[in-house]
Amino acid sequence: MRGHPELISSRRNPLVRQLRELHGGRGRREQALLLLEGTHLLQEVRRLGQVPHQLIATEAWQLAHPDLLAPAPHWPPWQPVTAEVLAAIATTEHPDGVVLTLAPPSAEGLEHTLLAVGAGEALLMVLDGLQDPGNLGTLLRTALAAGATAAWLAEGADPFQPKVLRASAGAVLELPIWRGSRPELLARLERAAAAGLQLVATLPPSSGARPYWELDWCRPTAVLLGNEGAGLAPELQAHAHARVTIPHREAVESLNVAVAAAPLLLERQRQRAQSKAAGR
Ligand SMILES: C[S@@+](CC[C@H](N)C(=O)[O-])C[C@H]1O[C@@H](n2cnc3c(N)ncnc32)[C@H](O)[C@@H]1O
Repeated sequence: MRGHPELISSRRNPLVRQLRELHGGRGRREQALLLLEGTHLLQEVRRLGQVPHQLIATEAWQLAHPDLLAPAPHWPPWQPVTAEVLAAIATTEHPDGVVLTLAPPSAEGLEHTLLAVGAGEALLMVLDGLQDPGNLGTLLRTALAAGATAAWLAEGADPFQPKVLRASAGAVLELPIWRGSRPELLARLERAAAAGLQLVATLPPSSGARPYWELDWCRPTAVLLGNEGAGLAPELQAHAHARVTIPHREAVESLNVAVAAAPLLLERQRQRAQSKAAGR
């Protein structure tokens, strides 16, 4: 461990206030930092070779994780705090003893997204005003698992809030994410369509849309998923080249959006595996 900062035992310490400000979007923008909570996110930061800005942990956590304390290049020294101070900093009810701060992902990823659109391998997940942080985090995790190139978000929940970061299991740190207004998203989708992407609207079965497995998902694709309550906005539906559904019983009107996204986003992998097995 480099340096030996003194144990912080008072919740009135300025560090607590600085870190609590990162619970809100304004604090994150002003400080240009994200607050990450828990051992798993710390491990993801390490795995991705990213460098935290601050590392804060209880002494008990440090004793239990000697493997994670080994200094990585350019990492700051560990700041020990009491369990009470850590609880005051964290947003979770039962924090596991460690939090860190990190600069938000840079715009480089977005350039990569645009290049990938031209490269013909694009799989974009497009979210229209997703409100629930748990849904958003789950969707970003699924998109990363499915090999998505990027996520484009029209308004909705902030993907960099602690709850989304946790629900995404760190996918927010790896997947290029763009977020803007719906008109900006429409303009982006028009450019994506001009570059050869098929825009696919996803709708409940009552829409009469065709089963999703009938579509050729191996083409460069943008999957459009709608808001939890209102579904996909009519102007986004109007831009789509195809309308697909996951057929299910009428006992429910629709699926949870994060549940629906899994078969849709993973269908490309299934179709590719099937073609390979058939020797095509
Ligand atoms: C909870 S649903 C919204 C329901 C809304 N009342 C509607 O009519 O669209 C949220 C989103 O999940 C996706 N979704 C839900 N069930 C689906 C299904 N069976 N097939 C395809 N997409 C679905 C769609 O993107 C939908 O906009």
